[in-house]
Amino acid sequence: NNDTYISNKLITWYQTNRRELPWRETTNPYIIWISEIILQQTRVAQGLDYFNRFVARFPNVQALAEASEDEVLKYWQGLGYYSRARNLHTAAKTIMQQFGGKFPTDYSDVKSLKGIGDYTAAAIVSFAWNKPYAVVDGNVYRVLSRLFAIETPIDTTQGKKVFAELASSLLSHQQAGLHNQAIMELGALQCVPQNPDCTICPLADVCMAYLQQNVSDYPKKQGK
Ligand code: ADE
Repeated sequence: NNDTYISNKLITWYQTNRRELPWRETTNPYIIWISEIILQQTRVAQGLDYFNRFVARFPNVQALAEASEDEVLKYWQGLGYYSRARNLHTAAKTIMQQFGGKFPTDYSDVKSLKGIGDYTAAAIVSFAWNKPYAVVDGNVYRVLSRLFAIETPIDTTQGKKVFAELASSLLSHQQAGLHNQAIMELGALQCVPQNPDCTICPLADVCMAYLQQNVSDYPKKQGK
């Protein structure tokens, strides 16, 4: 069907266009977790050095849990949003105490950890274990809103629900990790906010906004 067609196109495009990034070379949930928390409010170019230093000093949950908060914060110095580092430290201690030091594999257990919401939990369990949870971030909002010409504003309660359902229905349950990486990478590299070059987009033939010639009208926002 059409969803399968889109998912296959995304994955094929991703396999030849993706950036090589250290956290993409692993299925270690700890490493994926650290990368996703850093990348929440930080660009890849800035986050890379911090990521490399952080996982070199704290290579696993136990090392992070046993460190002092001061030292964890020292490795975060300059990244801002320091609650991210404090929550990482707290969650590492929770994993030691509640999960015997083993990173939980259950989506709801992962989400119960301090600082981990829907997006991060879906990223961890899909990238690490291919579990069929769809990621929904800013890139995904943009890609989906254009692809299906969604009129619902993204900054509303209804919008959150509409896009979460759309992302889930499009997700390849066989290749959830790859699919999630692919749709985010398409948003980051191809379906960019300003002046995307739709003539080279792998989804141009099925994109409703491109068909309507109004790509720049999406995503719709209600505004402040
Ligand atoms: N931004 C958020 N998650 C990312 C990832 N896994 N790779 C690149 N950029 C990202």
